Amino acid sequence: MTSHATGRRTVLLTAAALTTGCGASGGGGGGTDTGTPEASAPATTGGGSSEAPGGTVLARTSEIPVGGGTVFADRKVVVTQPKAGEFKAFSAVCTHQGCLVDKVADGTIDCPCHGSRYRIADGSVARGPAPRPLPAERITVSGEEITLA
Ligand code: FES
Repeated sequence: MTSHATGRRTVLLTAAALTTGCGASGGGGGGTDTGTPEASAPATTGGGSSEAPGGTVLARTSEIPVGGGTVFADRKVVVTQPKAGEFKAFSAVCTHQGCLVDKVADGTIDCPCHGSRYRIADGSVARGPAPRPLPAERITVSGEEITLA
């Protein structure tokens, strides 16, 4: 049972952040936002050039249904969300004969060619003839953006 000072510091910092965030006291009246410089980067609709450092934005978290997934055929990647807030990505190339999987339904990623199915949680084979799991792809989830690493 060791009590750490770190916990208390975290609480204090959080409280300070909240106070600053609400920004009521003082009333400078300028409307200058002295919040954290990060945060709100509004989605530029129509621009199309949304580049994130370290990778390409693949999707928004809202595009991936909980308990399901979405196939990005042009990227040959399928992104799943087995549980709320938990995102996984796999190659969309079937390990049987290389067709692209085309849908996610009932907890599996399905190949249209010969009926192979892979589990959304880990890409493992739920039904053959696929001989191997779908290889995992690396993604990063930052806010609402899912980036292919
Ligand atoms: Fe996918 Fe045969 S290529 S099941």
